[in-house]
Amino acid sequence: MSIIGINYEECNNCNLCVTTCMLFRRDQEQDKIVFNDPTDFCNLCGQCIARCPQDAIIYEGIGEAYSYEDVDKPENIASYDTIYNFLRANRSIRRFKSKEVPNDVLRKVFDAMLHAPTAENARTENFTILSDKEQIKKLNDAVIEELMKQPEVKVKYGMLFKLLGKAFNSPVFFDAPHVIFVDSPLKSEGEFLNIGIIITYGRLAAQALGLGTCWNGWTQIAIMSNPEIKKIANIKGNTVGVFILGYPAVKFYRSPPRAPKKVEGLD
Ligand SMILES: Cc1cc2nc3c(=O)[nH]c(=O)nc-3n(C[C@H](O)[C@H](O)[C@H](O)COP(=O)(O)O)c2cc1C
Repeated sequence: MSIIGINYEECNNCNLCVTTCMLFRRDQEQDKIVFNDPTDFCNLCGQCIARCPQDAIIYEGIGEAYSYEDVDKPENIASYDTIYNFLRANRSIRRFKSKEVPNDVLRKVFDAMLHAPTAENARTENFTILSDKEQIKKLNDAVIEELMKQPEVKVKYGMLFKLLGKAFNSPVFFDAPHVIFVDSPLKSEGEFLNIGIIITYGRLAAQALGLGTCWNGWTQIAIMSNPEIKKIANIKGNTVGVFILGYPAVKFYRSPPRAPKKVEGLD
């Protein structure tokens, strides 16, 4: 996994890589640009690859670059109004059709998540999908058992889970056909941010595919207080994010209101 260097047959000496990343510099003696990373600083962000008009950066083991119309002008791909309406249409879905999502569609959701940014491009996260009803039920029972051990959570959610239990086999997951885990061996607040961003990418990609999703903080809370629960889903990481996914069985006729907030510093 690395940036190997420059294909000099393609390089036109435009210097854009030099102005993009300090690991590229012009070697006066050789009169050419060189890639030099003596302290292994490169985090494989790929900006050199993305910026080179000649596609002259040589790399290996980091997937493939991808070029498409308006990659250089993303505002032409989707207008602010389109994005705004798309974001405002995003709802937490808690009613699903029982139909499973085909693998090729699921792969698109995971592909979008793979392109979410992570701090230092560290990309330590692992991905798991649970689609087996019995396994989901087992996880559901373990999560409820754990949450009900916590007095404050019990007061808040005890009645809710009883009521949801009448409508769903696995109320924690609203009988969604798929439960998705994003986990990392790292244990830090920063890792929660990475996972939050990755899941947001996945949820928005899912929405664009006609799918519905909902964050599952309940499972995250249960796993934090009882890491043994992870074994049910064969998850090994120390920071875990969870969301459910399937075809929505609900329709929304408007985007709900959100009270405005003052932005300090903005008139
Ligand atoms: C980090 C996070 C954790 C959440 N955990 C749960 C959860 O465990 N169960 C649930 O039903 N909804 C969960 N939600 C959904 C929120 O309740 C929901 O986003 C909020 O009520 C706003 O509704 P909307 O998503 O439809 O706009 C979670 C949302 C976030 C962002």
